[in-house]
Amino acid sequence: MSHQGMDSKTNKIIVILTGAGISAESGLGTFRGAGGLWENHRVEDVATPEAYNKDPLLVWRFYSMRRIQAANAKPNMAHEALANFANEEHSNFDIHLITQNVDVLHQRADRFHRLDPICMHGSLHQSRCTSCETVYFDDYAYFDLEGNYAPQNTELCNADQKASPHYLHHYKLDYRNFLPLSPCCKQPIRPHIVWFGENPMFMEKIIPLVQSADLFVTIGTSGVVYPAAGFLEMAKINGAKTFCINQELIPQSGVIDVFIQGSAGEKVPKFLESLKNLS
Ligand code: APR
Repeated sequence: MSHQGMDSKTNKIIVILTGAGISAESGLGTFRGAGGLWENHRVEDVATPEAYNKDPLLVWRFYSMRRIQAANAKPNMAHEALANFANEEHSNFDIHLITQNVDVLHQRADRFHRLDPICMHGSLHQSRCTSCETVYFDDYAYFDLEGNYAPQNTELCNADQKASPHYLHHYKLDYRNFLPLSPCCKQPIRPHIVWFGENPMFMEKIIPLVQSADLFVTIGTSGVVYPAAGFLEMAKINGAKTFCINQELIPQSGVIDVFIQGSAGEKVPKFLESLKNLS
């Protein structure tokens, strides 16, 4: 997003890429941390098209649980600081946020809708038709952990999204073999999430953005999942100053100008504050 009413020619473009580490202090587990198992499945094994084709109910149980976990989490200081930074009219930066996270915490911190994150791995509060690919707002957790049909509104969607004609109310849906069906084609819906083996979303928008960055910052991502893991190098080659805020060093250390080690909740607000002195 860009700040309205400002001369964009003089503004520096800051592009930020976030990963699971930024949500760790909100209580959401990272992917490669300890305990990445769910009911003896590796998390990766319930987040693939193959898993959905084999056992869609299992996958929906997993995503019902993730919707509930996300709804119970709250944005932390790092999410809030990014949203506040985007909302500051005096800033000399155009800030753009790309996130690999599907947890909706950036959006929930962004009360004035100024940050508008690009969710390259999709989002937990959306589902799509498996036939025509229409995307819906959908914040229902359809199943409990035992697999019983137990629709629960997680309130991950905001008021506008709930009022949208593309919002799915569970009581209006048809079901087949327990699977919720799309209103458009009466075919099963699936979580609007990029699973392992699928292509990330919005790459046509993301690549030019990364290439245009004056400052490129990664926060809380392990740098092992491509294509996001390649953005630091891409930004650096195109002349950006690069920053990494993370609890541990990541494989791209050779193209990082400034490494800030520590927790996102502590370091991100300080880092954004320090940028104001650059203006
Ligand atoms: N503050 C900063 N960094 C943290 C914190 C914290 N509080 N807690 C953990 N980290 C760091 C870890 O050290 C790790 O390097 O965040 C990183 C999280 O890495 P991953 O768990 O691998 O998450 P991420 O990089 O977002 O994964 C990328 O892989 O599983 C897929 O699609 C999924 O979007 C995800 C993608």
